[in-house]
Amino acid sequence: MPLPDALIKKLADGHFHSGPALAAALGVTRSAVWKQVRVLEKLGLDVHRVPGRGYRLAAPLELLDAGAIRAALPAAAARQLPRLMVFGTLDSTNAWLLREAGATPAACLAEHQTAGRGRRGRNWLSPFGANLYLSLAWAFAVLPPHFPALGLAAGVAVARTLERCGIASVGLKWPNDLQVAGRKLGGLLLEMSGEPPGPCRVIIGLGLNCRMPANVVPDQPWIDLQNIAGGNATGRNQLAAAVLDEWLALLPVFAERGFAPFRAAWDKRDVLRGQQVLLRLPDKRIVGEALGVEADGALRLRTASGVQRFYSGDVSVRIAA
Ligand code: BTN
Repeated sequence: MPLPDALIKKLADGHFHSGPALAAALGVTRSAVWKQVRVLEKLGLDVHRVPGRGYRLAAPLELLDAGAIRAALPAAAARQLPRLMVFGTLDSTNAWLLREAGATPAACLAEHQTAGRGRRGRNWLSPFGANLYLSLAWAFAVLPPHFPALGLAAGVAVARTLERCGIASVGLKWPNDLQVAGRKLGGLLLEMSGEPPGPCRVIIGLGLNCRMPANVVPDQPWIDLQNIAGGNATGRNQLAAAVLDEWLALLPVFAERGFAPFRAAWDKRDVLRGQQVLLRLPDKRIVGEALGVEADGALRLRTASGVQRFYSGDVSVRIAA
């Protein structure tokens, strides 16, 4: 489906544009404008049509812009990141970086994903322009210590970034969820290619809810930056730059020292610690009290058969009786 780029740019200001004015500006018929508006709606954009006034987006849209992201990066981070790509639509920013084997580090963002990937094979809803879909490819010469904890450290980096942008109390839910007020604000998905323990390439993918459109309903309790910060929410380009800067600072440290330098920051934001949790594994479910994470990122649970460690799983937090 080709993206109606020119129409998106016109409507991004959030003002009304009449059908005839859009048709004239785009050099197409009014019925072609209408068809393009239908495409925008299919992409997840919330377009209002008001007879006599025309079309407008439910809210102004700051389009992603590689130049703006680069300009917001501190000089050292910009030098570290020669490749930064922004796409209108992609299957998945993680999948794109995994497929192309170019130089690292490389960052990839998209306004919309047709096959956004979530953890455990789930789909990540990716309406156009609403949220941040950001991935970074990084190569490790050798597998770093505590490698399973890399996702936890990357989550700490995002939480710190958000806190610097004025979002208080960002919680981390093992293994890769960002929460505010018990609702999901975002999630991370790490994917890897290469042959451990040798050189390997890791893709760190972040989906962060910025302004979820009214017509998109995620399948779990969620929150977005618009709910939290309203008009003061940091723009997506600046946010992308801030997350990339934090990840680029974190990765060389993780390569050398693993999770240790980030563990206390995780503990401070760990929303599961002390809670009764239900852990869903492929073959069974386990209930226990979360005791925090270990040095290598494993979740510790006090279960009926003693303290056990887990490296992956889908966690439901139970309301304590
Ligand atoms: C989760 O299930 O919580 C993880 C979601 C990760 C989604 C992001 S969006 C950017 C990147 N590209 C993808 O296809 N997935 C990740």
